[in-house]
Amino acid sequence: MGGVVPGRVRVRVPAKVNLFLRVGGVREDGYHDLVTVLQSISLHDTLLAVLDVSGASAHPAARRFMGLCLTVDGLGAVPTGEDNLALRAARALMSQVGIGTDRAGGQHEGPVTRLHLTKRIPVAAGMAGGSADAAAALVALNHLWQAELDRDVLRELAAELGSDVPFCVAGGTALATGTGTSTAQVLARGTYHWVVGVTDAELSTPEVYRAHDAVGTATDAQPDAVLQALRTGDAEALGAALHNDLEVAAMHLLPELVAKRDALLQAGALGAIVSGSGPTVLGLAASAQEAVALAAAVESMFDRVEIALSPAGGPEVASE
Ligand code: C5P
Repeated sequence: MGGVVPGRVRVRVPAKVNLFLRVGGVREDGYHDLVTVLQSISLHDTLLAVLDVSGASAHPAARRFMGLCLTVDGLGAVPTGEDNLALRAARALMSQVGIGTDRAGGQHEGPVTRLHLTKRIPVAAGMAGGSADAAAALVALNHLWQAELDRDVLRELAAELGSDVPFCVAGGTALATGTGTSTAQVLARGTYHWVVGVTDAELSTPEVYRAHDAVGTATDAQPDAVLQALRTGDAEALGAALHNDLEVAAMHLLPELVAKRDALLQAGALGAIVSGSGPTVLGLAASAQEAVALAAAVESMFDRVEIALSPAGGPEVASE
């Protein structure tokens, strides 16, 4: 690692939507086998990473230890402690590239990396907000610390951090299998206009999976119709093909989601679906103009409504 050159990096990282999600059986590790089609969406968080060497001792040994801290602003409450996914990603990258940490405490005499996260992606809402932040940290710190790990190595680290993190490192449109960490980019034409209906109530992903197992909502749905719609860039066909096996479980835990989804459909959405494990509900609109009208029509049903486009690219690095 080059690692102690002061600098600043800003990374914008998009949220994801599951255009198709089928949940299979429970594996030995407690996770479920999935088949899912993921697409990045323009709603994004921003991570600023600053490497500050000003307080570091001149003694070369001090440079083996990196201080790390995180601050957060924006929408929604996320933990800033060690279980924050951006911090966990930073620690994973540190151990991969051999940077020690000052986690034991005491007087810190090494360089300090300060992370500042601006949240825009709804928290615990089925849009991979935490996973996006982990991906942003991997990409930002790989750059800031001049670690030069290629995306494949980053994706391996990502898979350890969460099922959606490898996709968030890549962005775009992908078919994911296994626990969600095996991803392959798929062809997607067109631009899709979404109304993102945010509900402040949080749904715990493990709880939604448990409800799915208990309620027995497994289907044998296939992703072909979604993949075909994406290949041809047909928004109407995509709207009709949207599918999420976790939707019934999310609606079981939060029955108000039924009326929210129906409101989007009644207001003219081409399709409407719970996003991932919820409780965010997505409505697909036929055009940018229709998205504005749809958002206005359903605004009163949600705590917040956003308009977003898909597909978005992967995490974007801007050095400052
Ligand atoms: O991987 P991640 O931390 O995002 O997953 C959150 C939770 O979702 C897991 O703890 C597990 O309960 C559930 N999950 C699952 N099968 C998957 C992915 C997630 O059961 N393939």
